[in-house]
Amino acid sequence: MDIVQEIKRLKKEKNAIILTHCYQKCEIDEVSDYVGDSLYLSRMAAKTNADIIVFAGVYFMAQSAKILSPHKKVLLPNMNSGCLMADMIDVENLRKFKSLHPNIPVVCYINSTAEVKAESDICVTSSNAISVIKSLNKDKVLFVPDTYLGKWVERNLPNVEVITYNGYCPTHLRITVEDMIKSREKYPDALILAHPECHCKVCELADFVGSTKQIMEFANNSDCKHFVIATEEGVVQRLNRDSVLYNTGKTFTLINDSVICPNMKENSLEDIYNVLLTERNEININESVRIKAKECIEKMLTVNI
Ligand code: 13P
Ligand code: SF4
Repeated sequence: MDIVQEIKRLKKEKNAIILTHCYQKCEIDEVSDYVGDSLYLSRMAAKTNADIIVFAGVYFMAQSAKILSPHKKVLLPNMNSGCLMADMIDVENLRKFKSLHPNIPVVCYINSTAEVKAESDICVTSSNAISVIKSLNKDKVLFVPDTYLGKWVERNLPNVEVITYNGYCPTHLRITVEDMIKSREKYPDALILAHPECHCKVCELADFVGSTKQIMEFANNSDCKHFVIATEEGVVQRLNRDSVLYNTGKTFTLINDSVICPNMKENSLEDIYNVLLTERNEININESVRIKAKECIEKMLTVNI
């Protein structure tokens, strides 16, 4: 059986689309309708006319698609693909955090559960966190769960105090200041591009900080020929693949070999084929939670950036 052809056939037969995050295994792109970062994929999930969305990403991403498109069937290829950062805060801990800092708006990173979104005022992704928080016109916000993205926003908005929860991404914290210094020494002509989930000290040393899609766009639009990438390896693989495909002569080096999100790699082409065939691994959300979580995401989507 040619699995790629079979997936394409099933997609057509069932009016399904496949949304793929750029940390997924590269071979999944061949069957995907859209590949990108969390913001781009949630926009696609909100506007598709498909009956089925297969979300090749982690659990909170598929959940966000379901929050936005309740009448569509949303399937996660492999139920083991959770996000370790999203699981660092639950509703109980969020309520405790809020009670320690009362009457301050709660901003939640999209890397969070539906229940946490339902208890928050507005959602952000790594590509719009600075502009969305700026648009609130507040001098203080609470930010959950990623302490490093929150602190990165604060650094960029000097008039806003960002009080952060203590969550983090274990994959991005594998990137150290030492890696940055060594990369500068080893590749003096390269630009270093980092994701804001990295430690703030790492971000301060980068030439550009942005979401996965923003990193890819920056590299595509730059005249530089060599880039060191301080985010998950899937981004590096796609950039090198496209460089060969379009003959751009650009090279991309992963900052260190351990920047791999194991959860993102759980989904395989076989899993995608199986969920399309059987329609198992469907995401379901309690309706009152979903309605509140939807408000939280939609507020973000209406901020014009
Ligand atoms: P993006 O918003 O850049 O896609 O990031 C999602 C993520 O999980 C990064 O670790
Ligand atoms: Fe979550 Fe980190 Fe993996 Fe992104 S890279 S999905 S934040 S564990």
